[in-house]
Amino acid sequence: MSRLRTTAGLLGAPVRALVRRSPRLNAVLWDAQYALGMWGYLDEAGDGSVPLSLIETWAPQPAILDLGCGTSVNLALRRGRYRHYHGVDISRRAIGTARALRRPDASYAVADIRTYTPPDRYDAILLREVIYYLSVPEAADLLRRLPGMLTARGRILVQIYDVQRSRQFVAVIRDCGLEVTTWRPPETGDAGRDAFFVLTPAAVAEP
Ligand SMILES: C[S@@+](CC[C@H](N)C(=O)[O-])C[C@H]1O[C@@H](n2cnc3c(N)ncnc32)[C@H](O)[C@@H]1O
Repeated sequence: MSRLRTTAGLLGAPVRALVRRSPRLNAVLWDAQYALGMWGYLDEAGDGSVPLSLIETWAPQPAILDLGCGTSVNLALRRGRYRHYHGVDISRRAIGTARALRRPDASYAVADIRTYTPPDRYDAILLREVIYYLSVPEAADLLRRLPGMLTARGRILVQIYDVQRSRQFVAVIRDCGLEVTTWRPPETGDAGRDAFFVLTPAAVAEP
């Protein structure tokens, strides 16, 4: 499974870097990848209940913005435990699959997260396995903009699949000016590759 994930991640990486500048080409590339089933394995991957459990530690009944949500099939959102879910992805095909889930209290947008402004403010903004599909300056710029999309109790949750391979993005997260706490799945601990970073604006950081 993880070899498949690595192969899918690497496959097309040089092409992605070339077309990323054009939102339209970027969208075509992601749609093609979903059409080819390259990301199908993500739908069964990991423990999809982790993001909601983590969010509930600071915001019960949260309003959630999921940037680069993909199909969102792997995200466990229990009915009644969230107020609203808004998923955004550049791939129309992925959003089509997400919409077909018919989640209650959910809305979606096909958009480029590098320039997207959401209609509301959120208790949690998710960036699950998406930050490394931006350039390093784009990722830094996005993290600068996101606090303006949060409620007073809001925080940002960034999931990185392989912290070693994504060192430069981990550095962007640590340098973004927000308080950063790291959570790793207990079964892997510090040795694991998977990590969740909770980014807290100063105004809501613990005294
Ligand atoms: C590896 S997938 C992760 C999907 C989902 N977050 C998950 O963890 O299952 C990366 C997703 O980011 C989306 N994406 C990449 N660049 C994007 C951009 N500039 N704007 C919006 N979505 C983007 C892709 O379409 C894809 O669905």
